[in-house]
Amino acid sequence: MNDQQNSLLLRSLRGEPVERRPVWMMRQAGRYLPEYRAIRATTDFLGLCKTPDLAAEVTVQPVDLVGVDAAIIFSDILVIPEAMGMELIVEEGKGGPRFPNPLRAEWDVDQLASGITDRLRFVFDAIAETKRRLDGRVPVIGFAGAPLTLAAYMIEGQGSKNFDTFKAFLFAQPAAAHRLLEKLAAELIDYLVEQTRAGANMLQLFDTWAGVLPEEEYRAFGLAHASAVLDGVRRAVPDVPILYFPKGVRSYDGFAESGASGFGIDWQTDLRRAAQELPDTFPLQGNLDPTVLLTPPEQIRRRTQQMLAKVPSGRGYVANLGHGILPNTPVENAQAFIQTVKETAI
Ligand code: CP3
Repeated sequence: MNDQQNSLLLRSLRGEPVERRPVWMMRQAGRYLPEYRAIRATTDFLGLCKTPDLAAEVTVQPVDLVGVDAAIIFSDILVIPEAMGMELIVEEGKGGPRFPNPLRAEWDVDQLASGITDRLRFVFDAIAETKRRLDGRVPVIGFAGAPLTLAAYMIEGQGSKNFDTFKAFLFAQPAAAHRLLEKLAAELIDYLVEQTRAGANMLQLFDTWAGVLPEEEYRAFGLAHASAVLDGVRRAVPDVPILYFPKGVRSYDGFAESGASGFGIDWQTDLRRAAQELPDTFPLQGNLDPTVLLTPPEQIRRRTQQMLAKVPSGRGYVANLGHGILPNTPVENAQAFIQTVKETAI
């Protein structure tokens, strides 16, 4: 069934005994690698996402170049809103992706297309091609953005410090907001399940903007709809682990019932506290501050070892950063992080 049953990553996620911790890095396929920049120079960002051969090539790069224990498929969370009909622009060096026509009213929500999984064939093809190239070396991770985080971009139109347009929409038009979040959740279930059919061995649901709302609103607009996705995917493919990464949340109360099989922990949270608050049947992943990788290798080793020591040895755990690797990270520093995890016995 699952071709990577015996991989370090999947064994650790099941809480089985492992010799050492598995490790990968969020945004591990990216601009800190000269080999990525070389491929990127031949095409624009969305072109790279939509050309399965090239997407597979950059997906495999960090496995070869820094020695991570898993490959996360090269794509972006924003391909979902694009497939639902929103124009998406990713311009060179202009502060990230944007939607020139963001959602402003309930009518805009009603116009969004549904049943869009077929339009994302390029993602499934990239996964299948990545599997071929890896030939069983390491498992492949599929992913999507959680409903709240996708809605934040779709309404705000672009990244933002406070997401005030998005928050005002949620507060003023809660019914329209819930309709949007429900619509997204339905698409995300199909999309993630299809990624597993193409060969993804683990899934991650990114909720990067979970922390921009007051806790009560996060639970109603964020956690509830993320939970619908997590439950839906688990029902369809119960053997595939699905990790939820709710960045910026201040409490894990009730998260055990979210439907996630494990949790990504952000860099602001103390890993030891997360390990205590979440029942130990849930594996954790994280959470080194990505900025640590801008310090000398000795410092990286020390902080990585301190992080590893925070998780009890019997617990399912995947070493990672607590958010995406910074583009100005020296490759040797990323290697020092990965090497330290690999050399640290449990
Ligand atoms: O982790 C990986 O290596 C897989 C690839 C991946 C990308 N985006 C590639 C990317 C993943 C998992 C994502 C998820 C993503 N995308 C998230 C959630 C995770 C997080 O970081 O919080 C979010 C919020 C996005 C939206 C997005 N896409 C932003 C804000 C940006 C601009 C930021 C930047 O670094 O420029 C992107 C573009 C993007 N997505 C790049 C990459 C490698 C940079 C584009 C380039 O190469 O020019």
